[in-house]
Amino acid sequence: MRLRRELGLLDAVGIGFGAIIGAGIFVVTGVAAGIAGPAFLVGLFVAAIAATCNALSSAQLAAEYPHSGGTYEYGYRVLTPWAGFAAGWMFLASKISAAGTVALGLAGYLDALIPGIPPRIIAVGAIIVFTALNYFGVRRSSRANLGIVAVSLGALAMFVITGVSAFRLENLYPFAPAGIRGTLESAAILFFAYTGYARIATLAEEVREPKRTIPRATLITIGGAVFLYFAVAIVAVGAIGAERMAATAAPLHVAALEFRYGWVAALISIAGVTAMLGVILSQLLGLSRMGFAMARRGDLPRFLEDVHPRYGVPHRAVLVIGAIAAIVAGTGTLKGVAAAASFTILIYYGIANVAALRMPSPAKLYSDAIPVVGVLSCTLLALSLDGRAILTGVIILAAGFAGRWLSNSHARRHPSGEGR
Ligand code: ALA
Repeated sequence: MRLRRELGLLDAVGIGFGAIIGAGIFVVTGVAAGIAGPAFLVGLFVAAIAATCNALSSAQLAAEYPHSGGTYEYGYRVLTPWAGFAAGWMFLASKISAAGTVALGLAGYLDALIPGIPPRIIAVGAIIVFTALNYFGVRRSSRANLGIVAVSLGALAMFVITGVSAFRLENLYPFAPAGIRGTLESAAILFFAYTGYARIATLAEEVREPKRTIPRATLITIGGAVFLYFAVAIVAVGAIGAERMAATAAPLHVAALEFRYGWVAALISIAGVTAMLGVILSQLLGLSRMGFAMARRGDLPRFLEDVHPRYGVPHRAVLVIGAIAAIVAGTGTLKGVAAAASFTILIYYGIANVAALRMPSPAKLYSDAIPVVGVLSCTLLALSLDGRAILTGVIILAAGFAGRWLSNSHARRHPSGEGR
């Protein structure tokens, strides 16, 4: 069955912004400011270069393999099943950590609006509620998406306009207290803020003129995000300095309290909450669908591929993934889960870039320089992260490989398939 091609450039850009704007700008900027000081502003640009190359590599892969589900499929088709598996497994690890990050970020902003509820309860509660919504087949409709995007863009623009007068140059000094190392680490963690652009590549079947529309929508969305993030971040750090940004889970709210207009703090918190609710819903949805796709191939236990007869969703995958995400949100720290989400997604995009390099030449839309810069920047950023995030990511990857190897050997011993 084919989907109808009814989405134009504007729809694709709206969907991209809806998937991208979330905890990254509202929350992770504070974590990055704590790592690098005001130099996290440079980190935003470095992360954007990596994100742009990755997004264009994903776009050309999606244009060539429009029926497939992200790098898990590209890895299988263009590289080896092990590379495909690694991509899928890293995607699961990353998006589970990302859901935890966004849930904790949401808790910070909700606390600013309705103080008194313990943040952990909000974070875990949000995952449980959205897992239930996913279970019953609720998705973010395109109209709801456009509403959320309009609120986010409007509030962030208002934040910049009303915050300019609170800017103090002295808040930008010392500019790079943690040097180049710290700036690169902030870039690695801020990479998280741009993720979601792959959502545009997955629209390949639904947009008009995909070979033209997808790259354009990708560049407009990432370009727009860079511009917006930089404007918001410079106003925030100029208003309260890097240390105060790092000391709160709601840095934009705290910055807006310094502005002349008190209502901006409430507006930015409402926008943060709505944007993050939307991102959690789509992340949990993407996660369960990846879990389903991997189970269908035998890369995860087969019981996860079961589709609910009434709601039409892979309900067991939804529940298992929701439970793990709730544990992450209930136990992780903001910095820890954001770093884990970044490391694992950088590995995922590293594999996407290698697949783009290895795809058949006639199908390539861009010069090989794009995936080469993409893979180099993913590697550099992944290695710039905190040692604990790297170690955790490597252990998760090794555990996945070991599980797949054991399952394959079991299947070889029981070729009828009863073992899988
Ligand atoms: N880019 C998304 C966010 O910032 C994941 O929440």
